[in-house]
Amino acid sequence: MDDYQRLFENNRQWVRDRLQADPDFFKRNARQQTPEFLFIGCSDSRVPANEITGTLPGEMFVHRNIANQVFPNDINVLSVLQYAVEVLDVKHVIVCGHYECGGVKAAAQKQVHYGLVDNWLSEIRTIERLHGRELEAMTDPQARINRLGELNVIHQVYNLTLTPVVRQAWERGRRPVLHGLIYSLENGLLKELVPAVDTPSAADQLLPML
Ligand code: CO
Repeated sequence: MDDYQRLFENNRQWVRDRLQADPDFFKRNARQQTPEFLFIGCSDSRVPANEITGTLPGEMFVHRNIANQVFPNDINVLSVLQYAVEVLDVKHVIVCGHYECGGVKAAAQKQVHYGLVDNWLSEIRTIERLHGRELEAMTDPQARINRLGELNVIHQVYNLTLTPVVRQAWERGRRPVLHGLIYSLENGLLKELVPAVDTPSAADQLLPML
């Protein structure tokens, strides 16, 4: 059986397992989704949102791109955010980066390698410049990349706080609560990088970290 055919075999086995655990699973999921979380993560194949959080289909709305970016002009992430906040009414929006992120590594390399991807990673280069003093003081290159990955998450959480969708929700006294996490490929654990952000003043508390 080739790798592609294996997907269908796995799929049928997964359906059998799910039905055994919960005979109404697909019937219920087909009617509606009521996720409490929006997960904005990296496209990296080693960071699957549902699997690392132990959540099932229906529990987490997901957006992934290279290096978990939240650009104020990216209609893709903004429409996912708007739908999650205004229609699905998610309680939590999570930006989840990961250590050893190839996107962060590529951004930290000065030479151009990948064409369009280099454009995509431009904000990480700005973040690296903003935190140049802290990063240059780190002698271990791996530690420097990992710290840049953490700073990237904090910046993307702050970018979320500036979106009209989040500001308008907060003005109406509504959720979401924003979170910044980083995932370790080495031990599989998630770590919180910032306190929960659910008001403009909590967003301002991020400023000294930017
Ligand atoms: Co990555």
